[in-house]
Amino acid sequence: MGSEERAAVDRVLRSGIIAQGPEVAKFEEEFASMCGVEHAVATSNGTTAGHLVMLSNNIGPGDEVITTPFTFFATASVIMMAGAKPVFVDIEPRFYNIDPNKIQSAISSTTKAIIPVHLYGCPAEIDTILDIAKKNNLKVIEDCSQSHGAKYQGKNVGSFGDLSCFSFYPTKNLGAIGDGGIILSNNKALAAKCRLIREYGWKERYISSIDGINSRLDEIQAAILRVKLKYLDRDNQKRIKIAEHYSELLEINNLKLPEVSSNCLHVYHLFVIRTTLRNELKEYLEANGVFANIQYPVPCHLQPIYRENDSSNNCLLTEKISNEILSLPVYPELSIDAVNKVASLINQFLA
Ligand SMILES: Cc1ncc(COP(=O)(O)O)c(C=O)c1O
Repeated sequence: MGSEERAAVDRVLRSGIIAQGPEVAKFEEEFASMCGVEHAVATSNGTTAGHLVMLSNNIGPGDEVITTPFTFFATASVIMMAGAKPVFVDIEPRFYNIDPNKIQSAISSTTKAIIPVHLYGCPAEIDTILDIAKKNNLKVIEDCSQSHGAKYQGKNVGSFGDLSCFSFYPTKNLGAIGDGGIILSNNKALAAKCRLIREYGWKERYISSIDGINSRLDEIQAAILRVKLKYLDRDNQKRIKIAEHYSELLEINNLKLPEVSSNCLHVYHLFVIRTTLRNELKEYLEANGVFANIQYPVPCHLQPIYRENDSSNNCLLTEKISNEILSLPVYPELSIDAVNKVASLINQFLA
């Protein structure tokens, strides 16, 4: 945390306003404007953002929601939290996002929405997904928790769907120093409903007009996020530079590097390579002082909870790819020397 963030925290402590005050309101405005969306509702984290979105759309028991199994568990858990059923559609092999060609056949009379995830910072094929949703009268809810500042055909992710959700968990491209999240929407009524549900359904204090939960963002996190938002583009550019450097250095035999589509800006929340020697490579890197992570080792449809609740899934590509992926270190402060070291260890290992 630098001096600007410290000053922001100090400003909040002096103000005496701790939860959902003027810093939150300003952050909502600034983040919505950065994404080119009209309304924003800040939340306590990305999972409650998703839960509020389910509740605001009256998605519940008897409904189905289509999503990708190749994501962080919370994308799917909010569907179950609302009482609905997640229906998992396999991914495409280039960017590992939901395969739009497989969505139509997964739609049933009870399907209410599609949740594409812009995984690892790489936008999903949102145009095609929007077309399918329109034809079938479904809502599109973008999960942008890994893609702050990513662009599809020049427009920010989070500005395409009926609603979108972001997490500000500390490791995200825009991260708080604690938990945080936000919902974006151009639909005034839906945003207003999320706002009500966020705080006990209150239109006025202590008077609940609808059922609600507590998903407030606190002022300290909002003040810190306002500082960090100013540097999001710069930090994303640093991530992109690191990714380009890895891609230049890594000899690509036996290795699949992240692909970039010409109409997208990939912001490299993660830099994920693929190799059939994944486990051995991970061990080798760790033995040499480099921690490489697996995001995620068990896809959603194979999590015990979904195995018990769902038998409709045939996500073979996800299963294959989740055995081969490895996330290399990537964050704005990572030095080029460190990138050189990681790349040369990988090249040595594969040689
Ligand atoms: C794709 C995705 N969706 C949802 C979430 C949930 O966000 P949070 O951890 O803030 O609840 C995360 C974050 O970890 C995520 O990566």
